Order: sequence, then C-alpha cells, then structure tokens
Amino acid sequence: IQPNYEAVSRWTAQYISQRIRDYKPTKTRPFVLGLPTGSSPLGVYKELITMYKAGEISFAHVVTFNMDEYLGLDAQHPQSYHRFMWENFFSHIDIDERNVHILNGMAPDPAKECADYEQAIAAAGGIELFLGGVGVDGHLAFNEPGSSLSSRTRDKELTLDTRLVNARFFNGDVSQVPVAALTVGIGTVLDAREVVVIANGHNKARALHAAIEGGINHMWPISALQMHQRAIIVCDDAATDEL
Ligand code: GLP
Repeated sequence: IQPNYEAVSRWTAQYISQRIRDYKPTKTRPFVLGLPTGSSPLGVYKELITMYKAGEISFAHVVTFNMDEYLGLDAQHPQSYHRFMWENFFSHIDIDERNVHILNGMAPDPAKECADYEQAIAAAGGIELFLGGVGVDGHLAFNEPGSSLSSRTRDKELTLDTRLVNARFFNGDVSQVPVAALTVGIGTVLDAREVVVIANGHNKARALHAAIEGGINHMWPISALQMHQRAIIVCDDAATDEL
C-alpha cells in the first residue's frame, strides 16, 4: 500500500526493472513481460521510460505480450491498444518491434488469432511477469464478470458498465466504444510466473475488497489472484477503503 498514484507507479516500475535486471536476459532467454493498458499503468510506463533514459534499464532483451485489444479497431485507430502502447511506452524505449505482441483487433479469424497468441506465449517460454490493472467491476484484462477462471485467450463481449467507464476515451460517447474485445484469459494470466496488479483510487475499492477479502468468484474475476502463488497488488490508500 502506497500513499498515492505516483508512489504506486514508482514502486511498480522499480520492482519490474529489478526483476528484469535480476533475470539477466539474453537473446536466447529473453524476459517475457505481460502488459496492460488503461490509465493505471501510465505512471509505471513513464517511470520505466525515465529509468531507460537514465541508462538504468534496457528492454533490448524483453519480449512483451499485451493483455487485450478492442475487436474491430485497427492498429492505427486513436483508441486502439496498439496505438496506446506505442505512444505511451514502446516508442520511447529500446524494445525491438519484433518482440512486441498485441492481439490484432482486425484479425479476419479472431479464434485463430487467439489460438496463435496462446501459442506465441508458449513458444516464448511463458510469461515471467504479468502486469495488470483492474476494472471497477473486478475485471482483469477484458475478462468481464462471469468469465471462466480457467479461460484462455478469446473474444469477449464487453459489459455496458465497462463501455460506459471507457467512454471517456471515446469523446464520452458510449456508442463509439467497441462492443467486444480480444483478451487473454484468466487462465492465461494465472500461468504467468508472477502477477502484479496495480489499483488506484476509491473507485477500485470494491474490486480490491473482492480480490483480497472475498471468496474466489467468477463474478469478480480479479479474485482469481488468490489462486496464484506469486501475486502482488500494489495500490494507493484510497483503493483500500473497503478493506
Ligand atoms: C480496461 C482494460 C483493463 C484495465 C481496466 C481498468 O477495461 N482492458 O486491462 O485494467 O480498463 O482501467 P483503468 O486503469 O483506466 O482504470
């Protein structure tokens, strides 16, 4: 528990960079990092960019897999998660473009796209550390309430609640928010050797309560973290209001 957003971001960025350094990645044994979008990780990305510019960390041997992408948005759409990741992180660091993996929201065959994604994760040796955020309704990636806790990468219909919350990125117009997404499953996240979830603000307090003090429950997908051997939640004071 950290006092505020800045401290959450700093702690998380330092933790991730430490893990990458300790791992001593090489070309044949890269560090495989799972990454989220949303406002929560923006501070972490800023801190990691600052560390990179200060020569404290390199991403030359890091392979990334993003959690999700809106279905029907092409990579260049201003609100696509592709665009988000390049603008807020990848363009500012020394990552090799070939090491970046993001689900293609325009894939002609979404089921194949998702199966290929799972295969690519396995081929990379599995995910070492999956960083995530959490939705106000307890969703993880785009695994909405009701998702199977053993789900794999697939397409998922978005709830109206999630679309309303995310409408702020679409000129406040919910009708512009896609109705579905491609997302890693809860099972995919749990397979990572470590999961780090960040949560900030009072609006995440109920999700945090469900994650930590509630029972494991598919209506609060974030509660699946309780089944992981190495899960860390990094949050600010406000997010602990319901604990
Ligand atoms: C979206 C993303 C999630 C993210 C959640 C919370 O729905 N698919 O990965 O965790 O929003 O976003 P924020 O960090 O902006 O609160």
